[in-house]
Amino acid sequence: MVVASSPGKLILLGEHAVVYGRPAVAVAVDLRLRVEARLSGVCRVNGYPMDWRYHSYMVKSMERHWSGPPLDVITGGELPPGSGLGSSAALTSAFNLCLMEMSGEHDEKELARRSYGVELAIQSNASPIDTSTVTHGQGIMVSPEREEGHLWSLSRGDTEWHVHHCQVPELSLVIGNTGVHAPTGPLVAKVRRFYESNAFAKEVVDEIGQITREGLVCLRHNDVTRLGELMTRDHRLLAILGVSSPELDKLVEASLPHSYGAKLTGAGGGGSMVALTDDPGRVAAVIRRRGGTPYVVRTGVPGTMLEV
Ligand code: PMV
Repeated sequence: MVVASSPGKLILLGEHAVVYGRPAVAVAVDLRLRVEARLSGVCRVNGYPMDWRYHSYMVKSMERHWSGPPLDVITGGELPPGSGLGSSAALTSAFNLCLMEMSGEHDEKELARRSYGVELAIQSNASPIDTSTVTHGQGIMVSPEREEGHLWSLSRGDTEWHVHHCQVPELSLVIGNTGVHAPTGPLVAKVRRFYESNAFAKEVVDEIGQITREGLVCLRHNDVTRLGELMTRDHRLLAILGVSSPELDKLVEASLPHSYGAKLTGAGGGGSMVALTDDPGRVAAVIRRRGGTPYVVRTGVPGTMLEV
């Protein structure tokens, strides 16, 4: 039997602008998803037959990367599905580590490549941010050029992403899930229409890029005060790009009096926001009071790994 776990992830700075070649920073968080896999006579997941309709990431992974006998798989852990915390990337990376371990392979870069390939096959517009963050852990910075700390490069069509290691201090964050489901594709398309028709949108995207660069310096120096200010500014800029929502704004504004800063995280339109705070209990309480589901998380955690 092999057991592997992956952390959840969130984008700290740079979403949407990353589509236009600006950098983005994402961090792994300490809510983990676990996958247990053992050789068996029949493919099962949590006691049910493995089925493309419910287990597409595992079926695709086995199609591409497994030629052994059927597997009995058990999944579990604390990472909530469908909350913008990268649960499909975490599942894909942990399951593929189980497959690699059972084949005697050990290579983080190959795991990141396989996980991205599987996610891309299922969600045709995926960027490698989610799978790279959960695979590597700590933090990653994605940019259009190779820079110091380069880990690997991944591409989709003509677009190439260079993924870099980013050392992250232990930050105390509270995620607030709005419960509003908002798929990434239409939000990326909405920003593209604005970006291509309006010079002001380009200025906004440029400023998000500058903020992300400054945020990287803050992470290196553990300057949470400035990092929080940058996050709040990033939220305002993302709102100008049209990807916030009344629910996200409500949770961000409610969190700000008790936080260094707060912003939407990921594609927006719904999904989740994140607050950087040294009073997580209070922020979680205000998020709950405003109708959101809070998750208190910490950063500085390892990526996909085998469990003993
Ligand atoms: O859907 P999420 O939470 O992984 O975030 C998408 C981030 C975007 O920048 C909006 C899109 C992308 O592919 O980078």
